[in-house]
Formats: sequence, structure tokens, C-alpha cells
Amino acid sequence: MDQNHSPEEQSGFCTPFKSFATKAIHVGQEPEQWKSMAVVPPISLSTTFKQHGPGNHTGFEYSRSGNPTRNCLEKAVAALDDAKYCVAFASGMAAAVTITHLLKAGEGIIIMDDVNRGTNCYFQRIAVEFGLDVSLVDCSKLNLLKAALKANTKLVWIETPSNPTMKVVDIQACADLVHEHNKDTVVVFDNTFMTAYFQRPLALGADICMYSATKYMNGHSDVLMGLVSVNRDDLYERLKFLQNALGGVPSPFDCFLCNRGLKMLHLRMERHFKNALAAAKFLEANSRVERVIFPGLPSHPQHEVVKRQCTGCPGMISFYIKGKLEHATTFLKSLKLFLLAGSLGGNESLAGIPAIMTHVSVPEKERKELGITDTLIRLSVGLEDEADIIEDLQQALAAAVSIRHPTLLLSH
Ligand SMILES: Cc1ncc(COP(=O)(O)O)c(C=O)c1O
Repeated sequence: MDQNHSPEEQSGFCTPFKSFATKAIHVGQEPEQWKSMAVVPPISLSTTFKQHGPGNHTGFEYSRSGNPTRNCLEKAVAALDDAKYCVAFASGMAAAVTITHLLKAGEGIIIMDDVNRGTNCYFQRIAVEFGLDVSLVDCSKLNLLKAALKANTKLVWIETPSNPTMKVVDIQACADLVHEHNKDTVVVFDNTFMTAYFQRPLALGADICMYSATKYMNGHSDVLMGLVSVNRDDLYERLKFLQNALGGVPSPFDCFLCNRGLKMLHLRMERHFKNALAAAKFLEANSRVERVIFPGLPSHPQHEVVKRQCTGCPGMISFYIKGKLEHATTFLKSLKLFLLAGSLGGNESLAGIPAIMTHVSVPEKERKELGITDTLIRLSVGLEDEADIIEDLQQALAAAVSIRHPTLLLSH
């Protein structure tokens, strides 16, 4: 076990991945790859590279097809996922679009019913226009996934935990089910919430592990980035071809920043876990809160699956505040430390109401079915001091309860 976990947090989770921090700090960063022996990889801004003779080059030709700084990042991420390869993109959505180009018109895609708004919008409003057969399924229920698999299903796209209702999917069981149906169907797990530090989908049977590295992997809310890790040679060759052909590549500067962010991923995630666990316990014990959804709490319906496939949990908590939209709004407006903003996974704590912020573009009927109501609040618990986080939640809940509401008045 990693000595950074407190005994309470550790209980029952998987053992942290071996040598994770060492890999994050050293793999892909070798000074010997540069003439200068630079310890920190330089930002290689050149878009083109001099050739020794026509067609005889160093491995780098043109920055869309390959870039030295991007190379360092891709090697580091592959190591952290214990994967053979990683391919980097300009955003999580650029990664999603590129992966979808593995398919042809007429082929089928199953996506998890609860996904972030970008993924939902792309598959439901754009991919379908190109003749792809898209269906939404609650993949946390294996019988529903099984029933949805069709002869044309070529891609299954799952987020676990899902965003924002934190449904957890048994990765191994899903991957096995899909591959029994058709071994060539590509199973993608969006690992944005968990990161490579807490969860390794490839080791559990996924074909592709992808990230919006805009979130925890970079971790500083200053880079848009997508990352895709794979073990299969055929998938890598095709994705590498598509990365170059479609051109959704990240800038060398962003690669430098993300590569730098990864070096402290392990420390950041441990602290996110500690702070979020404390915040989730505080919320669960508070009478102004209807229900807390945090995969790290025993009250989470799939807590056992989480413990079986993860080494810990990130800072994402969803909870229902008692009352109506006005109570949720007052809570958010009263927060002093948490910033009212979309996105997640940075140093700073953020809060929002998915129904009217991040998930407003998800059709209302779908939102209702999923439980994305006006009183569902999503927190991205940051790296501040635990006591300050709790104090802020406490005073904002007190402010929200001061609004008249029958249920609240009864309990206070
Ligand atoms: C889980 C998840 N996957 C993918 C995306 C899309 O990534 P990006 O915003 O980097 O394009 C997001 C964005 O919110 C996300 O939260």
C-alpha cells in the first residue's frame, strides 16, 4: 500500500500501481534525447525539421505528424497507463472525434446514458448526421448493455464514474461482455474522472483508455487536451494515422504544461481523495442535504465495484440539496472558496448545477430520467485545506436553508 493514504481511506481499495510516481517523473523525460541534455523537456515550437537528405529525417518531419515535446508527453502517459502507446489530441473532444473515425457510416455506437455534455452533443447531434447508429444505454446495468449490442455495434463508449450522477461501471465485466459479442468491437473507457492514478481500464479489458486531460491529468485548469492510450498495435497505427490526417493535435506549449502537470499527479490525486472524502462525509451527515453520491463512500450503490477496480477516488461529488432550484442557487452564490464554474479536476474547488450549467444542452427528458434535477449540485473538490473546504460548505448550506421551504423548516 502507498503510505500516502490514511488507513481509513485505504480500506478495501486496490493497491496503488507500482512505481507510478517514478514513471511520472522519468519516463519520456530522458535528458539524453536532447543535445543539450536538458533535464526538463524543451518546448519544441518548430513546425518543420531539417532532413539529412530527401526523405531521410530524424523521425520528425512536420509538427502535425510528430513533435518532440508531444513525444515526451505521449511516452509518459503510456507509462502511467501501463500501455504500449499514447496519442495526444488538442482536447478531449478532438480525441473522441478521432476515435469515432475508426468507424464507417452505418456502424453502431453505444454510449453510456450519462456522459459529459460534449460527448453527448457530439454523438447525438453530429455523429448521427454522418450515418452512425448511436444508442444511449445505462452500461452500469449489464443486462441493458447486453440487450443493446447489435450486429453492427463497433464502438462502446463508457464513462465511469459517469458525469454528473457518478454511476460506476464494472469495467472488466463490460469489456468481457462486449468482446464475447464481437471481439473486434472497440470498448472505450473515458478515464477523465479517475485518472491513470486511480484506475487502469486497459488492464481490465478495455481497448482504449481516453482522457479529457483538461481535467485532472493536467490538473491546473490551464490546458485543453485529449489523451488516448492503447495496447493494440492495429488501433495505434490507425489512430496515429488519424491524428495526423485529421490534425486535432495539441500545441507543444500545452504538451509541456500537461507533461509537467503529470509529475505531481499522484500527490494531487491523494489530496483530492482526502479532501473529497472529508467533504462527502460532512455533506452526508448534514440535514440540509438529501443525498450524496460519492463513489468513495460505502453509501454509493457500486462502492464494492469501485474498491475492486480503483486505487482511490477523485474529488468529484454530486449531491441533492433539500428544497428547490432557489436553494441550490443560493447555496452556490453563498460559496466563498468554491468557485462557481464549469469544468473540474484543477487545484481550485469548483461547484455548479449541472442542469443549468454543464448539462444544459442534454435534452430535458434525458436529464429527468438520469436524475439531473435542479437540486443536483456537482462539486470538484480541490487541493485547499480540508477545514476551509468544510467551513465553506457549511456556511453556504446555512445560507441556503435560510430560504423558506417546508421540508427544511421542519428539520430546523
Ligand atoms: C469526462 C469528460 N470527457 C470528455 C470531455 C471533453 O473534453 P474536452 O473539454 O477536453 O474537449 C469532458 C469535458 O467536460 C469530460 O468531463
